[in-house]
Amino acid sequence: MQDKISQYTREIQAFKPASAEELETFRIKFLGTKGLIKDLFDEFKAVSPEEKRVLGKVLNEFKKQAEEKYQFLKDQFASDTGTQAADLDLSLPGEGFETGARHPLSLVRREIIEIFKKLGFTVAEGPEIEDDWHNFSALNFPEEHPARDMQDTFFVKKDAVNGDIALRTHTSSVQVRMMENGKPPFRAIMPGRVYRNEAISARAHCFFHQVEGLYVDRNVSFADLKQTLFYFVQEMFGEGTKVRFRPSYFPFTEPSAEMDISCTICGGAGCPMCKYSGWVEILGCGMVDPNVLENCGIDNAEFTGFAFGMGIERITNLKYQIKDLRLFSENDVRFLKQFQSEII
Ligand code: DAH
Repeated sequence: MQDKISQYTREIQAFKPASAEELETFRIKFLGTKGLIKDLFDEFKAVSPEEKRVLGKVLNEFKKQAEEKYQFLKDQFASDTGTQAADLDLSLPGEGFETGARHPLSLVRREIIEIFKKLGFTVAEGPEIEDDWHNFSALNFPEEHPARDMQDTFFVKKDAVNGDIALRTHTSSVQVRMMENGKPPFRAIMPGRVYRNEAISARAHCFFHQVEGLYVDRNVSFADLKQTLFYFVQEMFGEGTKVRFRPSYFPFTEPSAEMDISCTICGGAGCPMCKYSGWVEILGCGMVDPNVLENCGIDNAEFTGFAFGMGIERITNLKYQIKDLRLFSENDVRFLKQFQSEII
């Protein structure tokens, strides 16, 4: 037994594993439940009591040595990244990061801004909580106009100086602020969120987004309005998209019109989207009413202007064929991730 122990000791001392597998073979060979050390202990049972006294110590010492050597090598393998790297395939792709996606309304708003920027329009913003003057009175809304009604407007409070304070019902209020605070010429678009007291459904929401446009200068005509919006439509919906203007009424423009474009789905042939008319409405517009210019301190004998207002949801629906407005505010990533744009 002594000889065996000496031989095994030499073997263990000389052992230099090249891999974790070799170390494991070593463990099984010496320390395993059917290993050599177990055999030695079995043999040990049969030796004489005198020998036991000597051999017991030697055997225990040997076992301890084997266990320590094994533990030492095992720790070394665990911390030795150089050896571990052999199992690592660095050419494999890393774990992917889940990235977010731009909201389709943000994409379309950016696209609208980019188009009007090319025509020299700047971008302006105004507050979402507005007073009666900026949202209604300055825009020539008569006192009893139904849009001031509780049904449409979320009133916030009554202010002693400013009267009714409400969530703005349209971005036309920003026109007023812009004209009051500056000097013509004005050429700007004003994107923003607006609020209306409406029941939420697939076709209506209590908040949505608009882009207001204002162009005031000397000699601005309806022809300028038409050409500007025509250009916008070609850029937004593609060359060849037709436009038509229908007479309409807004308190703040005279004359007023609504603009339709040839249906983006059927191209004018007729489909459920355009209710088989071939046309879909996309915005309201007109020549700024002289009263509005006057209310904002602009000389209406010297300056004329045009204005327009469009819903971003509407444009987005037409561009991406989204049929339910509620999808825009649910923040379902599966919905949001479907939209890509050239404009990041
Ligand atoms: N403010 C209108 C609305 O919310 C949209 C609008 C129509 C804006 C005509 C304009 C305009 O500037 O000229 O329905």
